[in-house]
Formats: sequence, C-alpha cells, structure tokens
Amino acid sequence: MTFIKTEIFRDIPHNSGGLAKASGIIKNGGTVVFPTETVYGLGGDAFNDSAVKNIFLAKGRPSDNPLIAHIADIADIGLAAAEVPEAAYFLFEKFSPGPLTLIMKKNDRISNLATAGLDTVAIRIPSHSLARALIRASGVPVAAPSANRSGRPSPTTFGMAFKEMDGRADAIIDGGDCEIGLESTVILLDVKAVRIIRPGAVTFEMVENALYSFGHGYKLHAPVKSGKTPLSPGLKYLHYKPKAEVYLTGESDIEKIKSLFPGRKIGMILSGGGKNCKINPDPRVLCFGTLAEYAQGLYRGFTELDGMGCEIIIAQSVEPAGLGSAIMNRLIKASGGKSI
Ligand code: TXA
Ligand code: MG
Repeated sequence: MTFIKTEIFRDIPHNSGGLAKASGIIKNGGTVVFPTETVYGLGGDAFNDSAVKNIFLAKGRPSDNPLIAHIADIADIGLAAAEVPEAAYFLFEKFSPGPLTLIMKKNDRISNLATAGLDTVAIRIPSHSLARALIRASGVPVAAPSANRSGRPSPTTFGMAFKEMDGRADAIIDGGDCEIGLESTVILLDVKAVRIIRPGAVTFEMVENALYSFGHGYKLHAPVKSGKTPLSPGLKYLHYKPKAEVYLTGESDIEKIKSLFPGRKIGMILSGGGKNCKINPDPRVLCFGTLAEYAQGLYRGFTELDGMGCEIIIAQSVEPAGLGSAIMNRLIKASGGKSI
C-alpha cells in the first residue's frame, strides 16, 4: 500500500484536542490505532465501507476474516446488533466493559465488509478509558482488529503498534502498555448453545459460572478441538507468529534447554520463575512470574526476542486452565504445536 503520513497523539487524558482530532479522523472515514486493555486496535467507522477497506489494506488481512465492532456502552448495542439474546445482556453486564466479545445477528448499518459478508457481528465494549473516550467521541461503532500486520503478534505497547502501523494508519494514540496483553475472549451465542471460539481473560470457568447463574438452560460447550471446521473465520489463519521458530517446552532448566540447540541463537520465555531465572543475566531469557504477567508480556517477549535476532524461541507451557487456556491457545498457534 502507499505510505501515508501517520499523526501521533500523546498524553490524551490531558490533551482533549488530541481526542477531538483522533475522533474526527474516525468520523471522516480514516483509521486510528488506539490502546485497549487487551491489545492495540486499528480502528475505523464500522458503518463506512471505505474506512473498513483501509483497515484490511493496512493489515494485509484476508477479506473473509471479519472485524470486531467496538461500542462504548451496553446501551449502544443496537448500533451494531439486530437482535440481542438475553444471555448477551447478561454476559455483557457481568464482564463488560472488558475483554469479552459476543457474536450476534448484525444490523443493516454495519458494513458488510466489516463482517466479511456474514449475517453476524462481533461486539465488544473495551474497558480502557482512552478506547471508550475515542469510541464515544466518534459516535459510531469502531471496527477494530488488532493493530498488527496479518499473521504477526498483536501489539501490546505503543512501540510495537508504531512499528506495525507507522505509514499505514492515519493516526496512532500512545496509551502506554496494554494491561492484559492477549486478545479478548470471543463467544458465539446461539439459542441455548454457547461456545468460546477464542479463549481470553474472561475464562471458560468464569463464563460457565455466569451462565449457570443466568439459568434458562444455556450451556457452555467444551472448546472445539483443532482440526475441526473453524467456527470463526479467523481461526483458520496462522496467527501470533514471531519471525523466530517457536517450540513449547515443559522444561524450566535454562542450561538444559540451551544444550538442546548447540550453536543456535535461542531466546526463552519462562513462567513461574524457571530454574535459575532470577539469577540469570542473559537478556535472551525472559522470565514471567504469574499467569497474568506471562499473558501481558508474551507478545512483547516475542517481539523483543525477534529484535535480538533469535532464530528459535522456547516458550514454557502452562496448565491450560483459567488464563492458562488463553496463553496455551496462542502458544500452540505460534509454535504450530511443535515442542521439545
Ligand atoms: O481484544 C481484542 O479482541 C482486540 C482489541 C483490539 O479489541 N481485537 C482483536 O480483533 O483481536 P481481531 O480482528 O484481531 O480478532 C477478531 C476475531 C477474529 O478471529 C475473527 O475471525 C473473529 O474475531 N470474528 C469477528 N467477527 C466474527 C463473526 N461475525 N463470526 C465469527 N468470528 C468473528
Ligand atoms: Mg488479530
């Protein structure tokens, strides 16, 4: 695509002129990269075909992979949805604003390009104050995929977002680091059958408990095993991949891992304080303590290790429960399931 001049907005909470300009760009059919609590998004007016086209173009995203429409409040749901199941209100009231995306019947105003021709739309109410302020000031649902070029890890810092989208978006809002670091939980709501099609920080266990208390016979289906027909178009594409080759491991001994790849430049991402983690001065060994820290730092870690020229990244597996399911989902995609 042709290079476009990207405007940078900083310190928006104290710079309301910046917010007015950024929302003006969205209203005029332009594209703005903005922070959310999960990852940075590349936003445009979800009613506007040409804005949506520019989002696909900037990312190099296949046109059959639909975008999420972001709204500021539950009360705005009618801007995007034609029909809202009771369970959707219940789940949004419980987990939004926050990292939850619900798929339901779309209305006629949402661009058919944004939903890739589907009759459904994915809706999310982000909790990040800048994201909500931008959406509110724009006055339209904001279609926004993660602000990475297609196939690459989602940006979770301003620096990552700038590297991905400088010259491709009309503006980028600097909102510092994203708190969660992994994309939202995406849920398909069908009558009485609910499925998580992308795990995130609103976990299987949280949704299961919520639906149980909602009653009405709604049931959360077990996660779909890989290899089956994807329920979400996005799931068939390669995702979240750094340049380096990724392997999963259950091993936490740094020297042992190194000895398996003699002469190769390897990086490591370890969780739970891998053996020797605290005292290891090697900058190519990244150590995360809690699952929340692992989730928050994973994509940044991929990008940093790529930047240090690592040919191979060894990432430690975690228990696939709670937030661990979301981490493992991304690690399995990034590694193609390869492990040592
Ligand atoms: O946390 C997030 O969700 C971030 C921030 C920016 O909000 N956004 C994000 O968007 O991750 P994206 O486009 O990278 O991922 C959206 C996922 C894709 O896998 C897409 O296929 C799926 O949601 N999706 C969107 N609309 C859908 C629909 N109508 N039916 C099924 N899947 C849908
Ligand atoms: Mg994405």
